[in-house]
Amino acid sequence: MSLFEPYTLPVSGVTLPNRLVLAPMTTYSGTPEGQISPGEVALLQRRAAGGFGTVITAACYVDRDGQAFINQWGCDNDDKLDSLRKAASAIKAEGAIAILQIHDGGRMADPKVLREPAPRSASAIAAERQGYLEPRAMTAAEVEKSIADFAAAAKRAAVAGFDGVEIHGANTYLIQQFFSPHSNRRDDEWGGDLERRLRYPITLAKAVRAAVGDQFIVGYRFSPEEIENPGITFDDTLVLVDRLADCRLDYLHISLGNYAAGSMRDPQSTQRLSTLVIEKLAGRVPLMAVGGIETVEQAELPLQDGAELVALGRVALWEPDWPNKVKAGRTDLRQALPAKDGDIICTLPRPLYESIIQRAGWVKIAAE
Ligand SMILES: Cc1cc2nc3c(=O)[nH]c(=O)nc-3n(C[C@H](O)[C@H](O)[C@H](O)COP(=O)(O)O)c2cc1C
Repeated sequence: MSLFEPYTLPVSGVTLPNRLVLAPMTTYSGTPEGQISPGEVALLQRRAAGGFGTVITAACYVDRDGQAFINQWGCDNDDKLDSLRKAASAIKAEGAIAILQIHDGGRMADPKVLREPAPRSASAIAAERQGYLEPRAMTAAEVEKSIADFAAAAKRAAVAGFDGVEIHGANTYLIQQFFSPHSNRRDDEWGGDLERRLRYPITLAKAVRAAVGDQFIVGYRFSPEEIENPGITFDDTLVLVDRLADCRLDYLHISLGNYAAGSMRDPQSTQRLSTLVIEKLAGRVPLMAVGGIETVEQAELPLQDGAELVALGRVALWEPDWPNKVKAGRTDLRQALPAKDGDIICTLPRPLYESIIQRAGWVKIAAE
């Protein structure tokens, strides 16, 4: 199977031009009011022009109180429609499929963006990471409102011209916080045993699908494990994906730093987690893979394993033309982000480029 074969999604029936997807990447480059900036539009358009058949945007907050990053963009309100339209039309102008990632940060909010003394989450349990505040527990009414916010944001994405949304259920943010036994210690219908921790993600996925109908792409991103104790185990995740397979989703997206990795909770196990998820899904929903993929061989491995789609993140920052160059058999692919003027050379907004340069080891930087 080729990376350049089209793929038709099972529910929406939308055909993706190829198997290569731009992974969602936050840019810290919106306006303080949550509108997109020209630099972000240019980032997206350049990757679409470079041959990514599908472009997933940066995480976009569905509720201002769920904003997690400085200058994150939002889809929480109709005053964001023009901003959303700019992103969707730039991606679609190059023939790519445009997917908005819808997000709430929950307890993983940068304290600098908060309007209240504390963020809100499933329970009042702080993350075991430096730099984050102890959240307050959401009321049951707030939990229901937050599901409605995701559904409304998905509808807004459709109005703005997007082809679909990706529900951000991964990377420790609010949806994952409800599924996690670390962050969810509730004893009402939204927490407790595994069954009740599943309720928020599953209700939310169904609410989003119901809001947009069947002709719109709805995907769901999840992280298969947490390192904390208690924390999400891979066995929990197999139950989650089994349930998500019944939610009329177009794809599931397994969020991994390294696609080929085994369990981080059980270092003895060497089997790729992704292959176990593919086995569990048994063809009911396609899987999108991601994580450390830089070469053609690495990109083809998930397809050989039975995944349908492959997302590239960091490599697409330094090589926006990765798909077109690979398709043309070219070997002049850039191998790292230039240490100087990388924002101009690679079409990246300046605040993103500066964050990358300041955070050593995150994204490869070329030796000067
Ligand atoms: C600068 C940057 C920003 C990111 N922002 C997001 C985001 O908004 N939403 C998300 O789900 N993942 C985000 N990620 C994770 C990527 O989508 C991807 O899963 C991760 O980088 C691993 O893939 P890669 O090795 O191809 O980069 C981000 C990664 C980077 C490098």
